[in-house]
Amino acid sequence: MSSIFLTGGTGFLGSHLADALVEAGHDVTASVRRTSDTRRIDRLGLEKVELDLAGGAAGLGGHDVVVHCGALTRARNEAEFMAVNATGTERLARAAADAGVRRFVFISSLAARGPDGAGGPVSPYGRSKAAAEEALASVGGPMDIVVLRPGGVYGPRDSDLLPLFRLAARGWAVIPRGANPVQPVHVSDVVSAVIASLTAPAPEPLPIAGAASSSWEEVANALIAAAERPGRALRVPPAVFLTAGLLSEFISRWTGKAPAMDRRRARDLSLHAWTCDIGPSRRHLDPWRPRVAIEAGMAQTAAWYRREGWV
Ligand SMILES: NC(=O)c1ccc[n+]([C@@H]2O[C@H](COP(=O)([O-])OP(=O)(O)OC[C@H]3O[C@@H](n4cnc5c(N)ncnc54)[C@H](OP(=O)(O)O)[C@@H]3O)[C@@H](O)[C@H]2O)c1
Repeated sequence: MSSIFLTGGTGFLGSHLADALVEAGHDVTASVRRTSDTRRIDRLGLEKVELDLAGGAAGLGGHDVVVHCGALTRARNEAEFMAVNATGTERLARAAADAGVRRFVFISSLAARGPDGAGGPVSPYGRSKAAAEEALASVGGPMDIVVLRPGGVYGPRDSDLLPLFRLAARGWAVIPRGANPVQPVHVSDVVSAVIASLTAPAPEPLPIAGAASSSWEEVANALIAAAERPGRALRVPPAVFLTAGLLSEFISRWTGKAPAMDRRRARDLSLHAWTCDIGPSRRHLDPWRPRVAIEAGMAQTAAWYRREGWV
């Protein structure tokens, strides 16, 4: 069992990681911010230390592994993304290397690779994750660095795709018009990949996605079935998504909060294909493989939202 320093444990993916790491018997320290809502991890009785990735330093002595899941997934501008996701990651990794940490697992994103065929990241968020990966490659020394690149993650506690589930609960699966396949992954399959990455060799960034890609029609069917009520798919043109993103960005200027749906998310959803070959990930993380098919995963997620009163 290892002593693990986890960032981002208060978030969607990180809170599932905290559950799994504790359940596996690891000794987990979670970093939190002064402003963090810690309710999801309080019941685990973890040790908590304060760390703001935008500028703070963490004492990492005595930890075997850092699982770096904390990041900004919404920001008002590229500089904010870079400060936390790129510079913050490099600072943490150098502190980990100096403290003798054995392994640094970085939760990057498929956005660092960019959408299918793009040859690179196409958003400020994706560029910040790619810059973080580049910075990690320059951290020398004996510390193993593992880079995992999840695609779109869904599951209980996620608020990003919640609007799609809410609409489906009202009988509408709103999907972008077009033929861009996606390969969403259930959060439990990302968690099992991270658990495998604590010991597996991973010499290259590993995409973590569902077993198969899906068309948006298949996503709509899964959403409607998960809603357990009659519904139909509504195919809207990308311009509608982009307008919603733009409006949300304008509103965020007044509220000062990062927008829930910005043009980056709108573009990612409506204009791009996001698929990947998980073959190398399966080989390196053996015996990991994604186990949750989209129909079962969406049904389980929708049932959780209903139980918790989110839809
Ligand atoms: N969800 C996806 O579809 C997806 C896909 C690919 C990759 N990822 C990656 O997976 C990781 C988790 O994403 P998520 O969806 O779980 O996001 P999330 O729910 O927004 O969680 C983000 C976490 O990062 C922490 N954080 C943000 N800014 C920070 C800062 N300046 N200093 C310290 N901690 C900070 C947050 O802490 P607070 O509680 O204080 O806000 C929170 O714990 C991220 O690295 C993300 O890039 C996610």
